[in-house]
Amino acid sequence: MQSDRSVTVSNDIEFSQSDFEKVSGFAKNEIGLTISEAKTELLYSRIARRMRLVGETDFEAYFRSLEVGGCEEKHFISLLTTNVTSFFREGHHFELLRKIIARKCELTAEKTHFRIWSAGCSSGQEAYSIALVLDKLCSVFPHVDFDILASDVDDSMLRKAKSGQYLKEETQNLDGSRIGELFCQSRLRLGEFEVKPKLKSRVSFRNINLMNIGAEVAGFDFIFCRNVVIYFDRATQDLLWKQFHCRIKDGGVLFLGQAERLSGVAEKHFKKIGITAFEKTKGNL
Ligand SMILES: C[S@@+](CC[C@H](N)C(=O)[O-])C[C@H]1O[C@@H](n2cnc3c(N)ncnc32)[C@H](O)[C@@H]1O
Repeated sequence: MQSDRSVTVSNDIEFSQSDFEKVSGFAKNEIGLTISEAKTELLYSRIARRMRLVGETDFEAYFRSLEVGGCEEKHFISLLTTNVTSFFREGHHFELLRKIIARKCELTAEKTHFRIWSAGCSSGQEAYSIALVLDKLCSVFPHVDFDILASDVDDSMLRKAKSGQYLKEETQNLDGSRIGELFCQSRLRLGEFEVKPKLKSRVSFRNINLMNIGAEVAGFDFIFCRNVVIYFDRATQDLLWKQFHCRIKDGGVLFLGQAERLSGVAEKHFKKIGITAFEKTKGNL
């Protein structure tokens, strides 16, 4: 886009290059996202739709309303994020998770608790897929217990995730047996897909911005942070590896998305054990 060009998204709302810079600056500072100019039109149409909904036609005035805090900031963050996800996405990770836990459980008869974090969980499918894998292991190894923290910065996604309710289209990649294992039978008869209470009860959802993770978010055996850091620049990723490293137990595993790689000094402190799966080695990063 030319630096002095304005984009008219509709008859009522105009955006300029400096407006784009404000939006991309906000995205970077607040949630670490790098927004490419290729996404400008998509972003503008989302923002214009929101502005019309709140009865605002002037972008500058709308943007100022974000600075005073309040709930509009949450809505704005929702406009910036990409939330594509699915149940058992990149299925090899769930098989690796199952194998690692089964191996550990065979080695001990003592009560063992696994703590898992789905960081950037979107609408919850990743967390519920993990819950199903662990739930099935619990029936084979009664001494095993687990809990899952699932977090995202986008409140609208967290609301959907907590409801555990999905549309038929969102279950299309699942075969019949997985559908039966994941969703309440009584609701399925009505053509509705609601995650079983026993799986829901294993997952707690929280709004956590990965740019500002609280110290209490720690002690994980496994962290899934897949298809999230691809939207961050290298320096932001490097900071995040450090955050994950100190929050994962020695021997714990970090799972990334298929297009994501560890970078910088983190490569020395995690050992690759599978496709974009990395075991934490001892020591500090
Ligand atoms: C493409 S989805 C990935 C969902 C899931 N992990 C998967 O692989 O299917 C990326 C998610 O990361 C979230 N996200 C982006 N920046 C974030 C941040 N700074 N803190 C927490 N979540 C963030 C987005 O809201 C979005 O829901």
